Amino acid sequence: MNIDDRDFMTADLVPRHDRIDLEQVWKRIDDEVSLFVARTPKSAERFQEAKESMVNGTANIWCNHWRMPDPRNDDFLLPHLWYWDRAKNQRCWDADGNEYVDYFYADGPTLWGHAPDDEVTRGIAEAVRSESFGCLVPNEEAVLATRLLQEMIDLKYWFMTLSASDANRNAISIARIVTGRRKVLSPNFGYMGAPEEGMYWKPQPNLPPVTRWPHYLPGHADPAVKIAEFNDLDSVEAALRDRDVAVFVTEPVMTDGGFVVPRPGYFEGVRELCDRYGTLLLIDETHTLASTPRGMFTELDLKGDMWTTGKPIAGGIPCGVLGMSEAVGDAYAAKVNDLSVPGGAGVLSFLGQGTTMAANPLAVRALRLALEHYYTDETYGRMVGAMDHLVRGMRGVIERRQVDFSITQTGARMHLNFVPTDSYTCLDAVRSIGLGGYHEYFNLFALNRGFVVMPWENMILTSPYTTEDDNDRFVAMFDECVGNLLGE
Ligand SMILES: Cc1ncc(COP(=O)(O)O)c(C=O)c1O
Repeated sequence: MNIDDRDFMTADLVPRHDRIDLEQVWKRIDDEVSLFVARTPKSAERFQEAKESMVNGTANIWCNHWRMPDPRNDDFLLPHLWYWDRAKNQRCWDADGNEYVDYFYADGPTLWGHAPDDEVTRGIAEAVRSESFGCLVPNEEAVLATRLLQEMIDLKYWFMTLSASDANRNAISIARIVTGRRKVLSPNFGYMGAPEEGMYWKPQPNLPPVTRWPHYLPGHADPAVKIAEFNDLDSVEAALRDRDVAVFVTEPVMTDGGFVVPRPGYFEGVRELCDRYGTLLLIDETHTLASTPRGMFTELDLKGDMWTTGKPIAGGIPCGVLGMSEAVGDAYAAKVNDLSVPGGAGVLSFLGQGTTMAANPLAVRALRLALEHYYTDETYGRMVGAMDHLVRGMRGVIERRQVDFSITQTGARMHLNFVPTDSYTCLDAVRSIGLGGYHEYFNLFALNRGFVVMPWENMILTSPYTTEDDNDRFVAMFDECVGNLLGE
Protein backbone atom coordinates (compact mmCIF):
# COMPACT_ATOMS: atom_id res chain seq x y z
CA MET A 1 0.00 0.00 0.00
CA ASN A 2 1.23 3.48 -0.82
CA ILE A 3 1.76 5.41 2.42
CA ASP A 4 -0.52 8.11 1.07
CA ASP A 5 -3.45 5.67 0.99
CA ARG A 6 -3.67 5.53 4.77
CA ASP A 7 -6.78 7.04 6.27
CA PHE A 8 -6.56 8.73 9.68
CA MET A 9 -10.30 9.02 10.01
CA THR A 10 -10.80 5.28 10.03
CA ALA A 11 -7.49 4.24 11.63
CA ASP A 12 -7.46 2.69 15.09
CA LEU A 13 -4.84 4.77 16.87
CA VAL A 14 -4.94 2.92 20.20
CA PRO A 15 -2.23 0.22 20.34
CA ARG A 16 -3.45 -3.21 21.51
CA HIS A 17 -1.39 -5.51 23.68
CA ASP A 18 -2.65 -8.99 24.63
CA ARG A 19 -1.37 -8.65 28.17
CA ILE A 20 -2.78 -5.17 28.87
CA ASP A 21 -6.41 -4.68 29.86
CA LEU A 22 -7.25 -1.07 29.01
CA GLU A 23 -10.38 -1.06 31.16
CA GLN A 24 -8.21 -1.84 34.19
CA VAL A 25 -5.74 0.82 33.07
CA TRP A 26 -8.48 3.48 33.08
CA LYS A 27 -9.36 2.49 36.66
CA ARG A 28 -5.73 3.05 37.58
CA ILE A 29 -5.79 6.41 35.77
CA ASP A 30 -8.75 7.48 37.91
CA ASP A 31 -6.72 6.51 41.03
CA GLU A 32 -3.82 8.63 39.78
CA VAL A 33 -6.16 11.61 39.24
CA SER A 34 -7.34 11.26 42.88
CA LEU A 35 -3.72 11.08 44.05
CA PHE A 36 -2.85 14.20 42.05
CA VAL A 37 -5.79 16.07 43.61
CA ALA A 38 -4.70 15.00 47.11
CA ARG A 39 -1.10 16.14 46.46
CA THR A 40 -1.96 19.57 45.02
CA PRO A 41 -4.53 21.46 47.17
CA LYS A 42 -2.66 24.78 46.83
CA SER A 43 -2.52 24.42 43.06
CA ALA A 44 -6.28 23.85 43.16
CA GLU A 45 -6.72 27.14 45.07
CA ARG A 46 -4.47 29.01 42.63
CA PHE A 47 -6.40 27.58 39.74
CA GLN A 48 -9.65 29.03 41.12
CA GLU A 49 -8.01 32.46 41.46
CA ALA A 50 -6.35 32.22 38.05
CA LYS A 51 -9.62 31.48 36.29
CA GLU A 52 -10.85 34.94 37.30
CA SER A 53 -8.48 36.61 34.84
CA MET A 54 -7.35 33.89 32.41
CA VAL A 55 -9.32 31.43 30.32
CA ASN A 56 -8.79 27.98 31.85
CA GLY A 57 -6.52 29.59 34.46
CA THR A 58 -3.47 30.11 32.26
CA ALA A 59 -1.91 32.90 30.21
CA ASN A 60 -0.19 30.29 28.02
CA ILE A 61 -2.66 28.19 26.07
CA TRP A 62 -0.17 25.30 25.91
CA CYS A 63 -0.38 24.87 29.69
CA ASN A 64 -3.86 23.42 29.26
CA HIS A 65 -2.13 20.24 28.12
CA TRP A 66 -1.23 19.44 31.71
CA ARG A 67 -4.87 18.60 32.32
CA MET A 68 -4.95 16.11 29.41
CA PRO A 69 -8.13 15.29 27.52
CA ASP A 70 -10.28 12.45 28.86
CA PRO A 71 -11.51 10.54 25.78
CA ARG A 72 -14.31 8.97 27.85
CA ASN A 73 -16.23 12.20 28.35
CA ASP A 74 -14.65 14.96 26.24
CA ASP A 75 -13.52 16.76 29.38
CA PHE A 76 -10.12 17.29 31.04
CA LEU A 77 -8.71 14.44 33.11
CA LEU A 78 -7.28 16.71 35.81
CA PRO A 79 -9.69 19.10 37.54
CA HIS A 80 -7.05 21.81 37.87
CA LEU A 81 -3.64 22.91 36.66
CA TRP A 82 -0.54 22.59 38.83
CA TYR A 83 1.57 25.66 39.49
CA TRP A 84 5.30 25.89 40.09
CA ASP A 85 6.96 28.05 42.72
CA ARG A 86 10.61 27.63 41.77
CA ALA A 87 13.10 25.56 39.82
CA LYS A 88 16.85 25.00 39.91
CA ASN A 89 18.99 22.98 37.51
CA GLN A 90 17.05 19.73 36.91
CA ARG A 91 14.58 20.15 39.80
CA CYS A 92 11.38 22.09 40.38
CA TRP A 93 8.93 22.53 43.25
CA ASP A 94 5.21 23.07 42.88
CA ALA A 95 2.92 25.35 44.92
CA ASP A 96 2.39 22.54 47.45
CA GLY A 97 6.12 21.99 47.94
CA ASN A 98 6.22 18.70 45.99
CA GLU A 99 9.63 18.15 44.39
CA TYR A 100 10.07 16.95 40.81
CA VAL A 101 12.92 16.04 38.51
CA ASP A 102 12.32 17.74 35.19
CA TYR A 103 12.53 15.55 32.08
CA PHE A 104 10.52 18.00 29.96
CA TYR A 105 12.35 21.36 30.21
CA ALA A 106 9.40 23.21 28.73
CA ASP A 107 10.05 21.22 25.55
CA GLY A 108 13.52 22.75 25.15
CA PRO A 109 13.99 26.35 26.31
CA THR A 110 15.33 25.30 29.71
CA LEU A 111 17.29 22.35 28.34
CA TRP A 112 20.45 23.73 29.94
CA GLY A 113 18.94 23.52 33.41
CA HIS A 114 16.79 25.96 35.37
CA ALA A 115 18.64 29.12 36.41
CA PRO A 116 22.02 27.37 36.21
CA ASP A 117 24.82 29.14 38.00
CA ASP A 118 27.02 29.64 34.91
CA GLU A 119 28.48 32.21 32.48
CA VAL A 120 25.29 32.36 30.42
CA THR A 121 22.97 33.17 33.33
CA ARG A 122 25.45 35.67 34.74
CA GLY A 123 25.89 37.32 31.33
CA ILE A 124 22.12 37.55 30.83
CA ALA A 125 21.65 39.03 34.32
CA GLU A 126 24.37 41.57 33.55
CA ALA A 127 22.65 42.48 30.25
CA VAL A 128 19.34 42.97 32.08
CA ARG A 129 21.03 45.48 34.37
CA SER A 130 22.97 47.33 31.71
CA GLU A 131 21.21 47.22 28.32
CA SER A 132 18.09 48.83 26.91
CA PHE A 133 15.76 46.36 25.19
CA GLY A 134 13.94 46.49 21.91
CA CYS A 135 15.87 49.52 20.77
CA LEU A 136 15.47 48.72 17.04
CA VAL A 137 19.00 49.68 16.05
CA PRO A 138 21.54 47.23 14.65
CA ASN A 139 23.61 45.66 17.36
CA GLU A 140 27.36 45.03 17.12
CA GLU A 141 27.11 41.85 19.19
CA ALA A 142 24.77 40.37 16.55
CA VAL A 143 27.82 40.10 14.28
CA LEU A 144 29.49 37.80 16.82
CA ALA A 145 26.33 35.76 17.32
CA THR A 146 25.65 35.27 13.61
CA ARG A 147 29.30 34.31 12.96
CA LEU A 148 28.86 31.61 15.59
CA LEU A 149 25.67 30.46 13.85
CA GLN A 150 27.64 30.25 10.58
CA GLU A 151 30.16 27.99 12.32
CA MET A 152 27.37 25.82 13.68
CA ILE A 153 25.27 25.46 10.51
CA ASP A 154 26.70 25.79 7.01
CA LEU A 155 24.46 28.67 5.87
CA LYS A 156 25.55 32.22 5.17
CA TYR A 157 22.88 34.70 6.24
CA TRP A 158 20.98 34.91 9.54
CA PHE A 159 17.96 36.68 10.97
CA MET A 160 16.75 36.66 14.53
CA THR A 161 13.12 36.42 15.62
CA LEU A 162 11.33 36.07 18.95
CA SER A 163 10.39 32.40 18.62
CA ALA A 164 10.70 29.36 16.41
CA SER A 165 7.18 30.02 15.14
CA ASP A 166 8.27 33.48 14.05
CA ALA A 167 11.39 32.07 12.39
CA ASN A 168 9.24 29.71 10.33
CA ARG A 169 6.74 32.44 9.51
CA ASN A 170 9.54 34.67 8.19
CA ALA A 171 11.22 31.80 6.37
CA ILE A 172 7.96 31.08 4.53
CA SER A 173 7.59 34.74 3.66
CA ILE A 174 11.18 34.94 2.35
CA ALA A 175 10.71 31.74 0.33
CA ARG A 176 7.61 33.24 -1.27
CA ILE A 177 9.46 36.43 -2.16
CA VAL A 178 12.41 34.50 -3.60
CA THR A 179 10.43 31.96 -5.64
CA GLY A 180 7.44 34.11 -6.55
CA ARG A 181 5.26 31.15 -5.49
CA ARG A 182 2.72 31.02 -2.70
CA LYS A 183 2.24 27.36 -1.77
CA VAL A 184 3.84 25.69 1.22
CA LEU A 185 4.42 21.95 1.57
CA SER A 186 4.79 20.15 4.88
CA PRO A 187 4.65 16.51 5.99
CA ASN A 188 1.39 15.09 7.26
CA PHE A 189 0.95 15.55 10.99
CA GLY A 190 3.93 17.87 11.12
CA TYR A 191 4.04 20.95 13.29
CA MET A 192 5.99 24.15 12.67
CA GLY A 193 4.58 26.28 15.49
CA ALA A 194 2.03 29.03 15.03
CA PRO A 195 2.25 29.82 11.26
CA GLU A 196 -1.15 29.08 9.82
CA GLU A 197 0.38 27.10 6.94
CA GLY A 198 1.45 24.47 9.49
CA MET A 199 -2.02 23.86 10.86
CA TYR A 200 -3.13 21.58 8.05
CA TRP A 201 -3.17 17.83 7.69
CA LYS A 202 -4.52 15.21 5.39
CA PRO A 203 -6.91 13.05 7.38
CA GLN A 204 -8.04 11.16 4.29
CA PRO A 205 -6.17 10.18 1.16
CA ASN A 206 -7.07 11.94 -2.06
CA LEU A 207 -8.87 14.78 -0.29
CA PRO A 208 -7.33 18.26 0.01
CA PRO A 209 -5.56 19.13 3.27
CA VAL A 210 -7.73 20.75 5.95
CA THR A 211 -7.02 22.50 9.24
CA ARG A 212 -6.86 20.23 12.25
CA TRP A 213 -6.89 22.50 15.29
CA PRO A 214 -10.03 24.10 16.74
CA HIS A 215 -8.54 27.60 16.72
CA TYR A 216 -8.02 27.39 12.96
CA LEU A 217 -11.60 26.50 12.05
CA PRO A 218 -11.36 22.72 11.69
CA GLY A 219 -12.11 21.37 8.28
CA HIS A 220 -11.21 24.61 6.50
CA ALA A 221 -9.18 24.07 3.30
CA ASP A 222 -6.52 26.45 2.00
CA PRO A 223 -5.30 26.17 -1.57
CA ALA A 224 -1.90 27.58 -0.50
CA VAL A 225 -1.11 24.49 1.58
CA LYS A 226 0.00 21.06 0.41
CA ILE A 227 0.72 17.96 2.47
CA ALA A 228 3.03 15.03 1.67
CA GLU A 229 3.79 11.89 3.66
CA PHE A 230 7.18 11.84 5.39
CA ASN A 231 9.41 9.09 3.93
CA ASP A 232 7.23 8.87 0.81
CA LEU A 233 9.07 10.46 -2.11
CA ASP A 234 6.19 9.77 -4.49
CA SER A 235 3.90 11.95 -2.42
CA VAL A 236 6.57 14.69 -2.22
CA GLU A 237 6.96 14.61 -5.99
CA ALA A 238 3.19 14.68 -6.52
CA ALA A 239 3.04 17.85 -4.41
CA LEU A 240 5.97 19.56 -6.16
CA ARG A 241 5.28 18.56 -9.74
CA ASP A 242 3.11 21.60 -10.55
CA ARG A 243 6.06 23.88 -9.72
CA ASP A 244 3.88 26.06 -7.50
CA VAL A 245 5.42 25.27 -4.08
CA ALA A 246 7.68 27.95 -2.59
CA VAL A 247 9.08 25.89 0.26
CA PHE A 248 9.00 22.42 1.79
CA VAL A 249 9.11 22.84 5.60
CA THR A 250 10.17 19.72 7.47
CA GLU A 251 11.90 18.45 10.60
CA PRO A 252 14.85 16.08 10.04
CA VAL A 253 13.13 13.56 12.34
CA MET A 254 9.45 14.27 12.77
CA THR A 255 8.87 14.77 16.48
CA ASP A 256 5.42 16.28 16.92
CA GLY A 257 3.02 13.38 17.11
CA GLY A 258 5.35 10.51 17.93
CA PHE A 259 8.74 10.32 16.21
CA VAL A 260 9.07 9.44 12.53
CA VAL A 261 12.64 8.61 11.56
CA PRO A 262 13.84 9.19 7.98
CA ARG A 263 14.50 6.13 5.86
CA PRO A 264 17.97 5.94 4.27
CA GLY A 265 17.99 8.00 1.07
CA TYR A 266 14.80 9.92 1.87
CA PHE A 267 16.41 13.33 2.33
CA GLU A 268 18.72 12.87 -0.68
CA GLY A 269 15.53 12.24 -2.67
CA VAL A 270 13.83 15.30 -1.17
CA ARG A 271 16.81 17.49 -2.10
CA GLU A 272 16.82 16.18 -5.64
CA LEU A 273 13.06 16.77 -6.02
CA CYS A 274 13.27 20.29 -4.57
CA ASP A 275 16.05 21.12 -7.05
CA ARG A 276 14.14 19.60 -9.95
CA TYR A 277 10.95 21.56 -9.24
CA GLY A 278 12.44 24.84 -7.96
CA THR A 279 11.22 24.52 -4.34
CA LEU A 280 13.30 25.66 -1.35
CA LEU A 281 13.97 23.19 1.47
CA LEU A 282 13.56 24.49 5.02
CA ILE A 283 14.85 22.31 7.86
CA ASP A 284 13.12 23.10 11.18
CA GLU A 285 15.35 22.05 14.09
CA THR A 286 13.33 23.46 16.95
CA HIS A 287 13.22 20.02 18.56
CA THR A 288 16.09 18.11 17.04
CA LEU A 289 18.68 20.64 18.14
CA ALA A 290 18.68 18.68 21.39
CA SER A 291 20.37 15.90 19.46
CA THR A 292 23.78 17.28 18.54
CA PRO A 293 25.53 20.66 18.94
CA ARG A 294 25.57 21.30 15.17
CA GLY A 295 22.09 20.02 14.51
CA MET A 296 20.95 17.13 12.36
CA PHE A 297 21.36 19.52 9.45
CA THR A 298 25.10 18.98 9.86
CA GLU A 299 24.98 15.45 11.22
CA LEU A 300 22.85 14.09 8.36
CA ASP A 301 24.35 16.52 5.78
CA LEU A 302 20.85 17.67 4.86
CA LYS A 303 21.74 20.44 2.41
CA GLY A 304 18.70 22.59 3.18
CA ASP A 305 18.33 26.09 1.74
CA MET A 306 17.01 27.44 5.04
CA TRP A 307 17.19 26.42 8.69
CA THR A 308 15.13 27.49 11.68
CA THR A 309 15.12 26.91 15.39
CA GLY A 310 14.06 28.60 18.63
CA LYS A 311 13.35 27.30 22.13
CA PRO A 312 16.84 26.39 23.53
CA ILE A 313 18.91 28.47 21.09
CA ALA A 314 19.41 31.47 23.42
CA GLY A 315 19.67 29.78 26.81
CA GLY A 316 15.95 30.14 27.58
CA ILE A 317 15.54 33.80 26.58
CA PRO A 318 12.78 34.05 23.91
CA CYS A 319 14.56 33.92 20.56
CA GLY A 320 14.33 32.20 17.21
CA VAL A 321 16.84 32.14 14.37
CA LEU A 322 16.51 31.73 10.65
CA GLY A 323 19.48 30.85 8.46
CA MET A 324 19.56 30.86 4.66
CA SER A 325 22.02 30.02 1.92
CA GLU A 326 23.93 32.73 0.11
CA ALA A 327 21.77 32.17 -2.99
CA VAL A 328 18.52 32.58 -1.05
CA GLY A 329 19.78 35.60 0.90
CA ASP A 330 21.05 37.36 -2.24
CA ALA A 331 17.85 36.62 -4.17
CA TYR A 332 15.78 37.93 -1.26
CA ALA A 333 17.80 41.15 -1.04
CA ALA A 334 17.63 41.66 -4.81
CA LYS A 335 13.85 41.27 -4.85
CA VAL A 336 12.97 43.47 -1.91
CA ASN A 337 15.40 46.17 -3.00
CA ASP A 338 14.13 46.19 -6.57
CA LEU A 339 11.65 49.00 -7.06
CA SER A 340 10.52 47.59 -10.40
CA VAL A 341 9.23 44.31 -8.93
CA PRO A 342 5.44 44.43 -8.60
CA GLY A 343 4.68 45.10 -4.96
CA GLY A 344 8.33 45.93 -4.31
CA ALA A 345 8.83 49.34 -2.78
CA GLY A 346 12.48 49.40 -1.90
CA VAL A 347 13.08 49.71 1.76
CA LEU A 348 9.37 49.85 2.55
CA SER A 349 9.11 46.23 1.40
CA PHE A 350 10.56 45.16 4.71
CA LEU A 351 7.58 46.54 6.60
CA GLY A 352 5.32 43.79 7.82
CA GLN A 353 8.14 41.28 8.05
CA GLY A 354 9.68 40.25 11.33
CA THR A 355 8.69 41.91 14.59
CA THR A 356 10.08 45.09 16.11
CA MET A 357 11.44 43.30 19.19
CA ALA A 358 13.50 40.79 17.21
CA ALA A 359 17.27 40.84 17.81
CA ASN A 360 16.84 42.99 20.90
CA PRO A 361 20.08 43.38 22.88
CA LEU A 362 19.01 40.94 25.60
CA ALA A 363 18.23 38.19 23.09
CA VAL A 364 21.41 38.87 21.14
CA ARG A 365 23.53 38.64 24.30
CA ALA A 366 21.76 35.45 25.36
CA LEU A 367 22.18 33.93 21.90
CA ARG A 368 25.88 34.74 21.75
CA LEU A 369 26.53 33.36 25.23
CA ALA A 370 24.46 30.21 24.68
CA LEU A 371 26.23 29.48 21.39
CA GLU A 372 29.62 29.89 23.06
CA HIS A 373 28.93 27.87 26.20
CA TYR A 374 26.14 25.38 25.52
CA TYR A 375 26.54 24.31 21.90
CA THR A 376 29.72 22.45 22.69
CA ASP A 377 30.77 18.80 22.63
CA GLU A 378 31.32 19.02 26.37
CA THR A 379 27.76 20.11 27.23
CA TYR A 380 26.17 17.72 24.75
CA GLY A 381 28.43 14.94 26.03
CA ARG A 382 26.83 15.35 29.47
CA MET A 383 23.25 15.60 28.18
CA VAL A 384 23.50 12.78 25.68
CA GLY A 385 25.47 10.64 28.15
CA ALA A 386 22.61 11.06 30.64
CA MET A 387 20.08 10.13 27.94
CA ASP A 388 22.09 7.05 26.88
CA HIS A 389 22.06 5.91 30.51
CA LEU A 390 18.31 6.50 30.84
CA VAL A 391 17.52 4.74 27.56
CA ARG A 392 19.65 1.71 28.56
CA GLY A 393 17.71 1.45 31.82
CA MET A 394 14.29 1.80 30.20
CA ARG A 395 15.13 -0.65 27.41
CA GLY A 396 16.24 -3.06 30.15
CA VAL A 397 12.76 -2.80 31.71
CA ILE A 398 11.07 -3.35 28.33
CA GLU A 399 13.19 -6.44 27.67
CA ARG A 400 12.86 -7.91 31.13
CA ARG A 401 9.09 -7.48 31.17
CA GLN A 402 8.88 -8.63 27.54
CA VAL A 403 6.44 -5.92 26.63
CA ASP A 404 6.04 -4.63 23.06
CA PHE A 405 7.16 -1.06 23.76
CA SER A 406 10.22 0.68 22.30
CA ILE A 407 12.27 3.87 22.47
CA THR A 408 13.40 6.17 19.66
CA GLN A 409 16.40 8.27 20.72
CA THR A 410 17.93 11.25 18.98
CA GLY A 411 20.74 12.50 21.25
CA ALA A 412 19.33 14.03 24.42
CA ARG A 413 15.70 13.69 23.24
CA MET A 414 13.71 10.49 23.12
CA HIS A 415 10.22 9.18 22.63
CA LEU A 416 8.73 6.24 24.50
CA ASN A 417 6.67 4.27 21.99
CA PHE A 418 3.84 2.08 23.19
CA VAL A 419 4.46 -0.03 20.07
CA PRO A 420 7.40 -2.38 19.42
CA THR A 421 9.42 -0.48 16.77
CA ASP A 422 10.47 2.92 15.44
CA SER A 423 7.92 4.58 13.16
CA TYR A 424 8.42 5.42 9.48
CA THR A 425 4.97 6.93 8.83
CA CYS A 426 3.07 9.57 10.73
CA LEU A 427 0.14 7.22 11.30
CA ASP A 428 2.39 4.68 13.03
CA ALA A 429 4.01 7.51 15.01
CA VAL A 430 0.70 8.84 16.29
CA ARG A 431 -0.28 5.33 17.31
CA SER A 432 3.05 4.96 19.14
CA ILE A 433 2.02 7.72 21.61
CA GLY A 434 -0.47 5.31 23.13
CA LEU A 435 -3.29 7.81 23.56
CA GLY A 436 -6.31 6.03 24.97
CA GLY A 437 -4.79 4.81 28.24
CA TYR A 438 -1.05 4.11 28.01
CA HIS A 439 0.15 7.69 27.58
CA GLU A 440 -2.27 9.09 30.16
CA TYR A 441 -1.30 6.50 32.76
CA PHE A 442 2.45 6.84 32.21
CA ASN A 443 2.30 10.63 32.37
CA LEU A 444 0.22 10.85 35.55
CA PHE A 445 2.07 7.99 37.23
CA ALA A 446 5.37 9.81 36.60
CA LEU A 447 4.03 13.18 37.77
CA ASN A 448 2.66 11.78 41.02
CA ARG A 449 6.05 10.20 41.73
CA GLY A 450 8.01 13.37 41.12
CA PHE A 451 8.98 13.21 37.43
CA VAL A 452 7.90 15.75 34.82
CA VAL A 453 7.53 14.45 31.26
CA MET A 454 5.81 16.04 28.28
CA PRO A 455 2.05 15.90 28.77
CA TRP A 456 0.92 15.54 25.13
CA GLU A 457 3.27 12.78 23.97
CA ASN A 458 5.98 10.69 25.62
CA MET A 459 8.90 12.93 24.76
CA ILE A 460 11.68 13.05 27.32
CA LEU A 461 14.73 15.34 27.52
CA THR A 462 17.87 15.19 29.63
CA SER A 463 19.89 18.26 30.61
CA PRO A 464 23.56 18.60 31.62
CA TYR A 465 22.29 18.38 35.22
CA THR A 466 20.46 15.06 34.91
CA THR A 467 22.23 12.58 37.17
CA GLU A 468 22.55 8.81 37.08
CA ASP A 469 20.68 8.75 40.37
CA ASP A 470 17.75 10.69 38.84
CA ASN A 471 17.77 8.25 35.93
CA ASP A 472 17.89 5.17 38.14
CA ARG A 473 14.90 6.44 40.09
CA PHE A 474 13.11 7.22 36.82
CA VAL A 475 13.81 3.69 35.56
CA ALA A 476 12.47 2.20 38.82
CA MET A 477 9.33 4.34 38.41
CA PHE A 478 9.00 3.17 34.78
CA ASP A 479 9.44 -0.45 35.85
CA GLU A 480 6.60 -0.13 38.36
CA CYS A 481 4.44 1.69 35.81
CA VAL A 482 4.92 -1.03 33.17
CA GLY A 483 4.26 -3.71 35.80
CA ASN A 484 0.98 -1.98 36.66
CA LEU A 485 -0.01 -1.67 33.01
CA LEU A 486 0.54 -5.41 32.71
CA GLY A 487 -1.47 -5.93 35.89
CA GLU A 488 1.51 -7.75 37.48
C1 LIG B 1 9.16 21.50 15.10
C2 LIG B 1 8.66 22.76 15.74
N1 LIG B 1 8.82 23.93 15.11
C3 LIG B 1 8.42 25.09 15.67
C4 LIG B 1 7.81 25.11 16.90
C5 LIG B 1 7.35 26.41 17.50
O1 LIG B 1 8.00 26.75 18.67
P1 LIG B 1 7.44 27.99 19.52
O2 LIG B 1 6.11 27.59 20.03
O3 LIG B 1 8.44 28.15 20.62
O4 LIG B 1 7.37 29.15 18.61
C6 LIG B 1 7.60 23.92 17.58
C7 LIG B 1 6.95 23.90 18.90
O5 LIG B 1 6.85 22.92 19.60
C8 LIG B 1 8.04 22.71 16.99
O6 LIG B 1 7.85 21.53 17.61
